[in-house]
Amino acid sequence: LTKWTVDDDGNLLGEISVPLKPGVVGGTLSTNPAAALGLEICGARSARELAELMAAVGLAQNFAALRALAGSGIQKGHMHLHARSLATNAGAAEYQLDEVVARLLASGDVKAWKAEEILKDLSGSEVNDDAVTATAAGKIILLGEHAVVYGRHALAIPIPNAVRAAVRPCDNTTTVSIKEWGLRAEVTAASSDGVAAAINRILDELDARDTRFAIDVSSCLPMGMGLGSSAAIAVAITRAVARSLGQDIDDERVNEIAYACEKLAHGTPSGVDNTLSCFSKAMLFQNRGSLHIQPLQLAEEIPLVVAFSRQAGPTQEQVAGVRARYELDTVRYEALFDQIDDLSLAGASALQARRYDELGRLMNVCHGLLNAIEVSTPDLENIVAIARDHGAVGAKLTGAGGGGSVVALCPGTEDAVRTALERSGYQTLRTQTAGGCANE
Ligand code: MEV
Repeated sequence: LTKWTVDDDGNLLGEISVPLKPGVVGGTLSTNPAAALGLEICGARSARELAELMAAVGLAQNFAALRALAGSGIQKGHMHLHARSLATNAGAAEYQLDEVVARLLASGDVKAWKAEEILKDLSGSEVNDDAVTATAAGKIILLGEHAVVYGRHALAIPIPNAVRAAVRPCDNTTTVSIKEWGLRAEVTAASSDGVAAAINRILDELDARDTRFAIDVSSCLPMGMGLGSSAAIAVAITRAVARSLGQDIDDERVNEIAYACEKLAHGTPSGVDNTLSCFSKAMLFQNRGSLHIQPLQLAEEIPLVVAFSRQAGPTQEQVAGVRARYELDTVRYEALFDQIDDLSLAGASALQARRYDELGRLMNVCHGLLNAIEVSTPDLENIVAIARDHGAVGAKLTGAGGGGSVVALCPGTEDAVRTALERSGYQTLRTQTAGGCANE
């Protein structure tokens, strides 16, 4: 988008070419006072002038980025990154990260113990008189989705602290908001779908039907992208509501309640999403009527890139589609699920021993089998191809498919894969996934 040259007089000349179509009348200006104030401050009198101003700011930012790369700024950037990684390792939730990083840098002690101290201080101040908060993990299935619904193993890792719920008892109707999704709803006795139905179930399970809550959820997981957002929301809300009621329930009970919510959302879930969300541990998961969980010890953060396709993948629909094809061709599908089971078991050993090339090959085979059961899409195939072309040793759809996300294993090539995907217009997950800290 930008071009930097030196003219005949030795002046640095920057050019930017970017399609911009802002407006200076109507639209958000009438509803968002900040937009009107911004316009007043910058003094742009026409849409064209505003577009030119925005492009000029973009050009200046581009120059600042180039300067940071070439000068001392990158050092500072490194310190910021280091602080961020210490904050994450200390267990800071997504919504706490900026605050912990800022305090860490200001303290001059950019150290693990300091990050933990700041986080403790911050978390203590969050439980005030009337609001109680709790967090829950998202999940990434590395191997085994769909087969896990048929009693086979799945290999999955958590996305720690991906969702946070804050609840306050209130006098009126129970409400829920998820700010990143632009969702706000009332929860009434008649609410029978979505997050409102899950909240009714949670209140029932906790014997709290007559208590009203204002529930605010914050999620770094996009909706319907195969990363376990619905389970994580159920877990975080269950924990926060139970705490608010002074009920001391253990993770097994939280998991049971979240599983009941998952059944409302997805029909016949295996339980892998709520279990990962609840225990936030990398694991080999199996549900053959009862849960078998084998926690895995991971020595380091796994070099993964997760990219979102352009459409959401509704789990219930995908699971139902697989079920219909399974009924038509049970013997063949059973054989495919057995193969996926083998991949999950071999993948767990490869993951723990950090044999990433082997794990990558297993993921590639698994993606082929998921394609065979018809849960891939052209967009997912495109993402997989881009990731592999740019150095991923393995790439596959993750979650239910039919849209959703791709997970790519990229030892030493994370930056190249992420850049290639983002340049092709795919957003990637920008949060810590599982690593040593998740299993500490
Ligand atoms: C969804 O995250 C994973 C599926 O295997 C469904 C399930 O396990 O319930 C597709």
